[in-house]
This record gives sequence, structure tokens and C-alpha cells, in this order.
Amino acid sequence: MNLSNIVPPTHFVQFNLSDIVNTLGEDETKRILSSFSCPLNLDVENFLKTKAIEFSKRGFSKTHLVYWETSDEKEKEFVGYYTIASKFITIQRSAINSKEARKLREHGIYNEKTNEYTVSAPLIGQLGKNYTNGNNSLISGSDLLQLAIQKIKYVQHEVGGRFVYLECEDQPKLIQFYENNNFKLFGKRELDKDETNINGHYLLQYFAML
Ligand SMILES: CC(C)(COP(=O)(O)OP(=O)(O)OC[C@H]1O[C@@H](n2cnc3c(N)ncnc32)[C@H](O)[C@@H]1OP(=O)(O)O)[C@@H](O)C(=O)NCCC(=O)NCCS
Repeated sequence: MNLSNIVPPTHFVQFNLSDIVNTLGEDETKRILSSFSCPLNLDVENFLKTKAIEFSKRGFSKTHLVYWETSDEKEKEFVGYYTIASKFITIQRSAINSKEARKLREHGIYNEKTNEYTVSAPLIGQLGKNYTNGNNSLISGSDLLQLAIQKIKYVQHEVGGRFVYLECEDQPKLIQFYENNNFKLFGKRELDKDETNINGHYLLQYFAML
């Protein structure tokens, strides 16, 4: 039996939070965001509920909501989100191989005194599945991450750039997740005083070359 005959095809659709606010207004948008929960990572949940709208408005970062939808559009579920911000990163020469060093030199600046490369790289600042009503089972973390990467590739296709950056807690499952998705560890960053929702006192820094 061909399963596609009984299971309707589905796909993911994405909405920029700024567009949602402009179309539906802030109150209705907050109502949508209140249906997001992420018990595995309260920073991811709290950011969406308390900061994402303000950060989008002020241009600090842009948040994208991801929905799972059947192709007949009869069913639609809020399955996750990601947030991207424009940043630059500084990477020690000792953390990378010669191919990466060549690409970083082409796209950024090399400091001979400190042996560091500085390059512009969009930051995937937040990424999380929506655990409300089991919606997390409708998307894999890799699919969500690929949607964020596709968005960055689209922007870089227009304006240039090859790198993407993210930070995560020192948790074996998260490390495995990002390394399986071709991200490479390049450093550690001490937490700022206001980063109180994060476990530990530092974040691991990862980059990937797109
Ligand atoms: C990270 C994420 C997108 C990966 O999705 P996925 O590849 O489909 O993987 P799963 O959700 O099945 O999780 C895999 C394992 O990692 C664990 N895990 C996920 N996020 C975790 C976290 N923040 N801290 C510790 N463990 C975590 C899960 O409990 C699961 O453990 P198990 O194998 O014992 O069941 C998803 O787990 C998620 O949304 N996590 C919460 C938000 C988050 O931490 N985002 C990363 C911010 S850097």
C-alpha cells in the first residue's frame, strides 16, 4: 500500500514576526505566541513571549514562526521558530583547518598579532520546537535548522557572505545535534549578567560555512 494515498502530504510555511504584527496587530500576535512552550529550554520560550516582538520592531533580530500545514491547507499547526540577527564573529586560527582559514581570510579580516579572523556572520540566536499539544513531533530539529539556514542562504545570495554562527549550552544532546548538522565548535563565551535563563556560566560557539 502506498502511504501517500492515506496520509495527506504536508509542508512547512514560515512567517516573519514583523509581518504578523503588521497584519494582525500586537494583541493577536501575542495570543499566537502564548501557545508556544519549550520546557527543555526556558530561554527559548521566554525570548519568544517577552522579547521577540520588541527585538523585531527595533531591528535587533528577526523572528520567523514555522507552521506545519497539510497541502489542502485544512490543518495548520505552529511547530517552532527561529531568530536571526546580524553579527560578526572572531575565530582563533588554531580552532580551524586551512580551508576554513582561507575562506575566513577571503571574507573577513586577519589580525596577525592575535592570530584571529573576524568575519560577519548571521547568528541563529534562537531555535526551538513548540512542545504544546505535541506539535514538536510534526517537525525535526534538523528540518527547523535547515529552514533557518535556507533563510540565511537566501539573504547571502542577495548580499554576499558564507558563514553562519550560533551559541548553545554545554549539553551533550545539543552538541550532537549541531555537530550532526555540520556546525564546528570554535570557542566559548562567558554569559552576560542579564542572561539568567541559561544553564551554566558560558555558551559554546559554533560556526558553519554555507
Ligand atoms: C534542539 C532541537 C531543535 C533538536 O530537535 P531534534 O533534533 O528533533 O531532537 P529532539 O527534540 O528529539 O531531542 C533530542 C534529544 O535532545 C534532548 N534535548 C533537546 N533540547 C535540549 C536541551 N536544551 N537541553 C538538554 N537536552 C535537550 C531531548 O530531550 C532529546 O533527548 P532524548 O534523546 O533523551 O529523548 C529540539 O530538541 C528543541 O527544540 N529543543 C529545545 C530548544 C533548544 O534547546 N534549542 C537549542 C537552543 S541552542
